[in-house]
Amino acid sequence: MDQRITERLEHLREQIRFHGHRYHVLDDPLIADGEYDALFRELLALEAAHPELAAPDSPSHRVGGPPLESFAPAEHIAPMLSLDNIFDVGEFAVFEDKVRRYLKTDEPLRFVTEPKLDGLAVELVYRQGMLVEGSTRGDGLIGENITAQLKTVAPIPLKLFFGDGSSLVPEELIVRGEVFLPKRVFAQLNQQREQEGEAPFANPRNAAAGSLRQLDPKITARRPLAFYVYGVGNPEALAVCSQEALLIALAGFGFPVNNLINVCRDQQEVYARYQHLLAIRHELDYEIDGMVVKVDDTDLQQRLGATARAPRWAVAWKFPAVQATTVIDAVEFQVGRTGAVTPVAHLRPVEVNGAMVRRATLHNRDEIERKDLRVHDVVLVQRAGDVIPEIVKAIAGQRSGREQPIAFPVQCPECGVPLLAVAGEAVVRCGNRYCPAQSLQKLIHFAGKRGLDLEGLGKKNVEQLVSEGLIRTIPDFFRLDAGRLARLDGWGEKSAQNILAAITARKILSLAQLITAFGIRHVGEVTAALLARHFADLSQLMAASKEQLLQIEGVGEQTAESLAAYFQDQENREMVAQLIDLGIVVRIDASRQAFLDGRVFLFTGTLQTLSREEAKQLVKTHGGQVATSIGQRVTDVVVGDKAGSKKRKAAEMNLALWSEEAFLALINQERTG
Ligand code: IVH
Repeated sequence: MDQRITERLEHLREQIRFHGHRYHVLDDPLIADGEYDALFRELLALEAAHPELAAPDSPSHRVGGPPLESFAPAEHIAPMLSLDNIFDVGEFAVFEDKVRRYLKTDEPLRFVTEPKLDGLAVELVYRQGMLVEGSTRGDGLIGENITAQLKTVAPIPLKLFFGDGSSLVPEELIVRGEVFLPKRVFAQLNQQREQEGEAPFANPRNAAAGSLRQLDPKITARRPLAFYVYGVGNPEALAVCSQEALLIALAGFGFPVNNLINVCRDQQEVYARYQHLLAIRHELDYEIDGMVVKVDDTDLQQRLGATARAPRWAVAWKFPAVQATTVIDAVEFQVGRTGAVTPVAHLRPVEVNGAMVRRATLHNRDEIERKDLRVHDVVLVQRAGDVIPEIVKAIAGQRSGREQPIAFPVQCPECGVPLLAVAGEAVVRCGNRYCPAQSLQKLIHFAGKRGLDLEGLGKKNVEQLVSEGLIRTIPDFFRLDAGRLARLDGWGEKSAQNILAAITARKILSLAQLITAFGIRHVGEVTAALLARHFADLSQLMAASKEQLLQIEGVGEQTAESLAAYFQDQENREMVAQLIDLGIVVRIDASRQAFLDGRVFLFTGTLQTLSREEAKQLVKTHGGQVATSIGQRVTDVVVGDKAGSKKRKAAEMNLALWSEEAFLALINQERTG
């Protein structure tokens, strides 16, 4: 039996490695997410049941190991250098000139241009093809050992691919690259943090750093960090003649290489690339703060060498700063759907790196105090994360005395009810559940991108429907009438029909979608997905107590409390009942369904903790089938005590064999990765 389990484990690890690479590195998956999750769950379950078969390169490390006490120092074998900065084409000419003088050459030079990723430099050490150590840059000589954290970063290979067989994996390979947080993930993370009353990260770079430097790797695992490789610390390990060839070799080992890297034959081409990257930077899902230009030829790189600070063969051509100064004209207080009151500064319009900035969130009272901001202050604004404008600081030297402290309201600016300040939370809330601003925001959320994504029902239209009295509660969306809609100002037959069609199309939805759309405090998309995987249907979720919710991995105290309160609330229960009456159908979560899809289980012997009936039910709930005799169709056999001939037969037929414990672990394993 052990042999078979070992083989199954190896098979699973290979499959997960292969499909993970297709998904995270090549962005070209070959199987559905649900199928991948099923493989992952099975691996976790098997490893949980057989801890003696653990392996350092197993994809199970992606979920994060036990928390560390502190970060151990990690010495870099070769220093991790910095880069000299340049800002214009003239400075690039000076750089090229220096290179030529150093090499005493007039020959054409090839350069590789790469986006300068604005994340965190890391070093990954592979021995015999296995990731054995990962570290931060630190002071360039000694960084911090963050191996467990880096193992959770999905695109980082835990084990190298052997390529096409022509390139053998070197004994030791020291790879360097940048870990970063995609902009979209950054925006979601900050939104979640604000919902939870935590200070938002200033930019994706800080968020990536905060996520990697977590003593508990499980927290890192929850942040979908990304990675691009850009070089090696021991070039002698790979006998390549150019930076381009190096990147191709690294891609062959399974590393993600950025797709905007280019080879240029002269200064004009380099400049054209700079212009191009500058123009498209806002369309990218990651931050770049410039372009790195590298002499392509590795022999020339070696001849050029480095100063104590930076290599002579590469330079960072930075983008112009994205800050500007303007004035805070006024501060408005907005009430969100969970009642949180957020101060928003109205700025004198100013252009920051190509976009007009008129408003900036001041986040909360603590943030205002920390920055000592006042109305009429001259402030430095920047577009952090390229998209969200923020105020960096007040320029205190330019104060005239006319500046006014920002007075936080004591009553809700919308409904007048006294605001609540909760100890330990930076956020101040309106506790009135009937506050019109909250209701409106809840409805906007429900119809919006993070809700049911009802096409044609953006913020403006929802506001109109609410003010016209057509919508007051969530179920009202499903009661809209084409005739009345068509008569509204600015509407017509066609737009009314389209919107009703969009609403009808959303009557069948997933549990995760519905939970997210409710906009329950502390419950974002991630938590909703966890819940949908855990509960078979909405009624089970609604019946769950706080204690039961706390049992779910990834659900903390605040979330459990908020959920339990939401579904115990009589009005919310009534709202759900109305939705069901109106014909809403909640689909079972796809990953739950797919999880045992296509598998046929046979039970043999006596089970200790489960009754046969319970065990069969578990299989069926998760999309599998149950067989009573061992036939061709059976894929998995669960072996209890005193199992007889069926067990032998199953072993002969090469079927997956499960102990009761392993079976339970398989069923209970939450989706990871
Ligand atoms: S090459 C010895 N390539 O920029 C060569 N660095 O200012 C040094 N960076 O610490 C690194 N994108 O974190 C290189 N395509 C790229 C890069 C890149 C971002 C970062 C890296 C380094 C910093 C130097």
